[in-house]
Amino acid sequence: MLDFNERRKVFITCKDRSVTYLEKEVRELGFVPESVQRTGIELIASMEDCMDLNLHLRTASHVLFEIKSFYLRHADDIYRRVKAINWEEYLDVDGYFSINSVADNESVTTPLIVNVKIKDAIVDRFREKFGRRPDSGSEFSGAVFQMFWKETQATLYINTSGDTLAKHGYRKIPGKAPMMEDLAAATIYATEWNTRVPFINPMCGSGTLAIEAALMATKRYPGLYRSHYAFMSILGYDESAYHAKIKKLEAKIVEVPEVKIIASDISLQAISFAKENAMTAGVDHMIDFQVCDFAETEIPEKPRGVIMFNPEYGERLGEETELEQTYRRIGDFMKQKCAGYRGYIFTGNLELAKKVGLKASRRIEFWNGTIDCRLLKYDLYEGKRD
Ligand SMILES: C[S@@+](CC[C@H](N)C(=O)[O-])C[C@H]1O[C@@H](n2cnc3c(N)ncnc32)[C@H](O)[C@@H]1O
Repeated sequence: MLDFNERRKVFITCKDRSVTYLEKEVRELGFVPESVQRTGIELIASMEDCMDLNLHLRTASHVLFEIKSFYLRHADDIYRRVKAINWEEYLDVDGYFSINSVADNESVTTPLIVNVKIKDAIVDRFREKFGRRPDSGSEFSGAVFQMFWKETQATLYINTSGDTLAKHGYRKIPGKAPMMEDLAAATIYATEWNTRVPFINPMCGSGTLAIEAALMATKRYPGLYRSHYAFMSILGYDESAYHAKIKKLEAKIVEVPEVKIIASDISLQAISFAKENAMTAGVDHMIDFQVCDFAETEIPEKPRGVIMFNPEYGERLGEETELEQTYRRIGDFMKQKCAGYRGYIFTGNLELAKKVGLKASRRIEFWNGTIDCRLLKYDLYEGKRD
């Protein structure tokens, strides 16, 4: 079985354009990256550390623990190379596993062929050794193995997360055009909100930004809302160590009643979804929910904080003209009512953003799926308040 204290290469993946925020989180947990790449961070760590990374990281997708890195020229060589690996160190013969792979090699004609060859090699090795084999399938409900293969360099990893870490587990009702939780967290980190001043989120939809802000302010980590990770199916996993880590997570929670987090939306239904999600996350007591036009949102006088909008981008024809007016009104509202605050708009429509009528002091790039997005920062200087 695998020694959960043995240190090896670990690769933590994240969305493109989120790696700066992932690096900040990784360093705050006391890890030192070996290298920071476009969509991930490499470091040296143990499976035990991977458990902590899975439980804490808000902006990561998967935490991968290296099994073996090797030269691989052709898809025909996969079976032999993979079969030679000591799989019984990682996987119970009566266990369940799935394979995921990303291959960039000209011998790969269909992406699934790589998964099938890896699966066959593992299964045949067990069958030859034990006369029976672990079950396999596409559900990430057991052990998950991941291959990255580029040209002639292949690396096999234990995917210690299984299902993506991008979902933080509290959002049972998504509402209309919700932000993914990892992206919401990354955008809040990008605002450099210090978690002690007000965080105002008009047009909150299902409440993702306000809930993520409340989680950060109270040091509630995603591991509190999820009970299954793929590391649980790797030989050497100690359930009592996991429970001890959950206890530590619970002990980290701090209540900060003085911090004002306000979430508003014009839709009563959106607010009721947002409240339910906040309740699941255990932070409903931290957030003032208001059903109103964004321009009626309460803006606390002191201390000044961060106000963040995620308006619709107008993906369907005819929507844009109506939204132009909304973006214009957001600009007027920030200028007239939010002096002293730092204003942010997260949008995937830069033409609409021009209607805000304020000059952005920063334009931070993000991807929301395939949509090229910006988090626009507006310095709303005092003295401009009406
Ligand atoms: C893109 S969604 C926000 C999604 C949100 N970030 C989330 O993760 O769920 C935009 C929201 O703006 C709300 N909205 C549209 N016009 C509004 C207005 N004039 N005042 C307040 N809210 C409005 C919609 O009801 C919708 O929930």
